[in-house]
Amino acid sequence: MADKLIIFDTTLRDGEQSPGASMTKDEKLRIARQLERLKVDVIEAGFAASSNGDFECVKAIAHAIKDSTICSLARANDRDISRAAEALKGGHSTRIHLFLATSALHMEKKLRMTPDQVFEQAKLSTRFARNLSGDVEFSPEDGYRSDPDFLCRVLEAVIAEGATTINIPDTVGYAIPELYGNFILDLRNRIPNADKAIWSVHCHNDLGMAVANSLAGVKIGGARQIECTINGLGERAGNCSLEEIVMAVKTRRDYFKLDLGIDATQIVPASRLVSQTTGFVVQPNKAVVGANAFAHASGIHQDGVLKARDTYEIMRAEDVGWATNKIVLGKLSGRNAFKQRLQDLGIELESEAEVNAAFAKFKELADRKSDIFDEDILALVMDESVTTEHYRLLALSQHSEMGERPQASVAFAAGAVEHHAQSDGNGPVDASLKAIESKLQSGAEMLLYSVNAITSGSTESQGEVTVRLQLGGRVVNGVGADPDIVVASAKAYLSALNKLHSKVERVAAQG
Ligand code: KIV
Ligand code: ZN
Repeated sequence: MADKLIIFDTTLRDGEQSPGASMTKDEKLRIARQLERLKVDVIEAGFAASSNGDFECVKAIAHAIKDSTICSLARANDRDISRAAEALKGGHSTRIHLFLATSALHMEKKLRMTPDQVFEQAKLSTRFARNLSGDVEFSPEDGYRSDPDFLCRVLEAVIAEGATTINIPDTVGYAIPELYGNFILDLRNRIPNADKAIWSVHCHNDLGMAVANSLAGVKIGGARQIECTINGLGERAGNCSLEEIVMAVKTRRDYFKLDLGIDATQIVPASRLVSQTTGFVVQPNKAVVGANAFAHASGIHQDGVLKARDTYEIMRAEDVGWATNKIVLGKLSGRNAFKQRLQDLGIELESEAEVNAAFAKFKELADRKSDIFDEDILALVMDESVTTEHYRLLALSQHSEMGERPQASVAFAAGAVEHHAQSDGNGPVDASLKAIESKLQSGAEMLLYSVNAITSGSTESQGEVTVRLQLGGRVVNGVGADPDIVVASAKAYLSALNKLHSKVERVAAQG
């Protein structure tokens, strides 16, 4: 029997550290449920000690998820570890993930600790965590840039203290596949008790090699866990992308000779959900989950694929979940069918009143758009949660004519206060957002504005707008969807302002 490769997803922790990608508890729960459907082995649900919000997310996910192990990150100190254990308490299967930097640079400049102090802290904190959990992972942060002799000393000690997984982060994405693979192999060969732990890889994508490095860590180094995120979401250039790892190992099983527990048909739904939730659009030529990943434009390729699919295709689109892009509901669909579809998509609305409100919005949408896809339902439910937010769009009208300066009138609520504002602008979107700003004067700087069709194929699709705002050092993304892209833009803008309005304080998490 082949070895099993453990897939550890950190979309909800390392992925969320991407500027603007922060998610609410409901959004995280929805993604965790999708990761469970994907049959991910371990879900890193957050960093419990970093904020009360993160603590509540880890707790809610640990209680809701039964088929994946739920993990919380913790710095290597008693307070963080206790917080993680408390958040995970009562979960079906749980893990505490400790990290402590071991590179000379991080120890000296960031931690201001000597190597001996780091060694002691690694040992004691692992002992403390192991008393609270049978499943403890230890990560020497910036491990790949650490002195191998020192790393061997630390890792041998934490394994002796009971660490069950040893993860070697390439925190800054500096590794090269062959070198990283050999680095791990060397550690495993030199550490006498190395076989008492599962070895794991955690690669960032700064040089575009996170997937290649992770696979080399497995193939050359003998690691049996890969840490990754959906769509490669993560700080800077992101983390190793789950969908690429999974399909590389599955498609080239002849080479890797490893088994995976993943249900690959859930990959595309997971990719869409993460993209729609965070507003991080997937580039069209992204492997596996990009809109063009299975599209053949050249005549020669099309002809080949029609004659024999494997002439130009090494994977089947339906095997990674593209076939799920089907019409699910229309204007004649009833409330029960709608409720069932919500359930199938893992969406749990809290009350019947919420289902009714979402159903009313669905009917409204179905009147304007004949085919309703899963993506439309997801957007609608995300939009629905906005009704409880501080800023809410109430009405919008705009007038634009070729050669004339567009005008917009916008009505929106800020808490209990209703605002009505008018403005002109370069275009109808500009006029609408200027109208909102004329009342709020938020002072936020817009870093990004992008429009995409939620479902491909026709102009009937809803427009999905992402707006990224920066204010006082915080970066947030707002997402809004509507068949009218001016309305979608105003919704996205208000959604970003809502995120700025709800000040979430958190400890800066690491790489
Ligand atoms: O990149 C990194 O070093 C991390 C650790 C906290 C595991 O994310
Ligand atoms: Zn990381």
